[in-house]
Amino acid sequence: MTAVLTGIGGFLPPRAVTNDDLSRTLDTSDEWIRTRTGIRERRMVSEGLSTGSLAVEAGARALRSAGVTGVDAVVVATTSPERLCPAVAPEVSSRLGLGTVAAFDVTSACSGFLYGLATAAGLIDSGTADTVLFIGSEAFTTLVNQHDRTTAPIFGDGAGAVVLRRGAPEEPGALGPFDLGSDGALADLLAIPAGGSRQRSADAGLGHASVPAADWYLRMEGRPLYTQAVERMAQSAARVLDRAAWPVTDVDWFVGHQANLRIVRAVAEELQLPGERVAVNIDRVGNTLAASVPLLLNDYAAGGALRPGHRVLLSAFGAGLSWGSTVLVWPDVKAEPVD
Ligand code: UT7
Repeated sequence: MTAVLTGIGGFLPPRAVTNDDLSRTLDTSDEWIRTRTGIRERRMVSEGLSTGSLAVEAGARALRSAGVTGVDAVVVATTSPERLCPAVAPEVSSRLGLGTVAAFDVTSACSGFLYGLATAAGLIDSGTADTVLFIGSEAFTTLVNQHDRTTAPIFGDGAGAVVLRRGAPEEPGALGPFDLGSDGALADLLAIPAGGSRQRSADAGLGHASVPAADWYLRMEGRPLYTQAVERMAQSAARVLDRAAWPVTDVDWFVGHQANLRIVRAVAEELQLPGERVAVNIDRVGNTLAASVPLLLNDYAAGGALRPGHRVLLSAFGAGLSWGSTVLVWPDVKAEPVD
């Protein structure tokens, strides 16, 4: 038996921020952002919305898509938790009326959807759960310095969710083999230095040196990350295709993490996948970390481009460094447009 995808949903906060909006307060331009990243606009949370509420909205849509009102476990992948403690998944479960089921978070930045999917599938494979609601949810713009032109244009908020159930490996929707990897030697390429146990707030009264304001926000070394992203995603995707015994010519859609349009295209080129099989929505949502891959799946399924029987390759890369890939044949699931 294996985990089978049986429902999908997505949610974006209503506040759209265009490149021109950003250019009013940042030394940047629509032209620079579009040509370097492919992003035209992104959504950002406003007062009253955060990772938990985005997750509840996307989760409710995925449950509706699957036609179920209960699951055995809730897993949330996020790198913008509501609080350092506790995990957000138990609260999401409670707010969705799912009761006291197992609920926990997975943290793996932009590869969070792939790591969380493997974890959720593992709950089913091990017999711990028959059904799992798995959500990638991020309000990451709250952790990005909106005055830093090297990071502010890149990220967006949103949530995407899937429901998995126990099924047979030959069914459409059955998750294929996974490839997961990491390189912690390069952890500092993308990091938020303060807020954890290594660099705590001075408010604790324990004599810690004061934390510089910039350390509460994301730091990113874009260029080396770019090279790593292309190399790691392409290698991981090639490994998973090999394990699944899928020739690359069989892939109908490459659904890759939307970090940068140029990265996704370069990975496809490495894999020798034609451009028309590369799914893209970064222009409207930016980089939404763990929500990126499920939002893209939802967009393409709701729009009718991703259809039952299509062979899909999923791949992601992010902070850690970390990366992951899997494959599935798209099942006959209902998908609603995010808005
Ligand atoms: O989600 C997974 C992890 N994230 C990634 O994988 C991100 C990977 N990296 C990237 O996508 C790209 O490196 C970026 C989009 C972040 C940056 O693009 P780039 O083509 O690598 O630009 P760069 O950082 O090399 O900067 C080129 C120039 C610099 O000016 P000089 O030194 O050439 O005079 C920057 O100061 O562009 C300047 N610049 C900007 N100019 C206008 C940097 N940010 C901006 C900006 N607007 N927002």
